[in-house]
Amino acid sequence: MKRQKNENVYTKIISVTSGKGGVGKTNIVCNLAYCFASMGKKVIIMDADLSLGNVSVIMGMIPKYNISQVIYGDKQLRDIIMTDSNGIMVLPASSGISELSNLSESQKITLMSRFDEFAGDMDGSGRPADILLIDTGAGISSNVLYFNLAASEIYVVVTPEPTSITDAYALIKVLSTKYSEKYFSILINNVRSEKEAKEVYKHLSLVSDKFLKVNLNYIGHVLNDDNISRSVIMQKPASSIFPDSKSSECFKKMAYNILSQKDSKISNGNIQFFLNKLLMSF
Ligand SMILES: Nc1ncnc2c1ncn2[C@@H]1O[C@H](COP(=O)(O)OP(=O)(O)OP(=O)(O)O)[C@@H](O)[C@H]1O
Ligand SMILES: [Mg+2]
Repeated sequence: MKRQKNENVYTKIISVTSGKGGVGKTNIVCNLAYCFASMGKKVIIMDADLSLGNVSVIMGMIPKYNISQVIYGDKQLRDIIMTDSNGIMVLPASSGISELSNLSESQKITLMSRFDEFAGDMDGSGRPADILLIDTGAGISSNVLYFNLAASEIYVVVTPEPTSITDAYALIKVLSTKYSEKYFSILINNVRSEKEAKEVYKHLSLVSDKFLKVNLNYIGHVLNDDNISRSVIMQKPASSIFPDSKSSECFKKMAYNILSQKDSKISNGNIQFFLNKLLMSF
């Protein structure tokens, strides 16, 4: 990994987001985390779907505490973090606390200061994470925009459904026209073939090229696979329990692809920058 001045290790901070809900973000985050951990990387998942978090469900964890106790002031991030048997660390979100679906300014400040205390040495080992994966909610709510703006790379998940493509375009449009984000990585989920994925990507990039000044980057696809819903029922990432399934092959390929990508914004790749961006996106 890239070394930086004053930073032992460079942390890749990726938000996984979508316009439309239910397109596979949480499954993608958990499976990529599993693949990265299998490759020896230190991974943290932040469940930023703050009021309807699902990461811990898919990871088979039962959190004692969650982000709501951090935002309301009693707990530190270090108190809520959980580690699974593969070493994947998870910052769980709450479930059913509707007040967290749109953080107030003061709640954002609390969250940021907690991150500041925590940054760089999240598990107390002295070694910062290689990758921070942020699972956002869907749509264009202020929380979704907020976490995407704070990340250094934005991965937009799209499926072949026209509604998913339209909503992905809407999200990219808001982030680019209102907040000057120009780089988006596109991840196509739930396709029957790579050819179908490329067609969906082409469709999205044609409209984006025509109406928005953005750079889209195809990051990979995940095939439609019943093993994914089976794995959700078993509360484990598909890659861990069905390693030879067609979706697991896709996740593995995508994880390699992500790690071999030349980063578009190297200087943004540390936790401090993430905090600064959280601050700037008020
Ligand atoms: N490649 C796939 N093949 C088959 N089913 C899939 C695939 N990807 C996701 N699914 C199914 O789609 C559903 C939604 O997945 P997931 O919860 O990961 O989406 P999400 O984008 O995180 O949703 P939300 O917007 O509600 O957070 C799940 O039931 C999952 O089993
Ligand atoms: Mg989700």
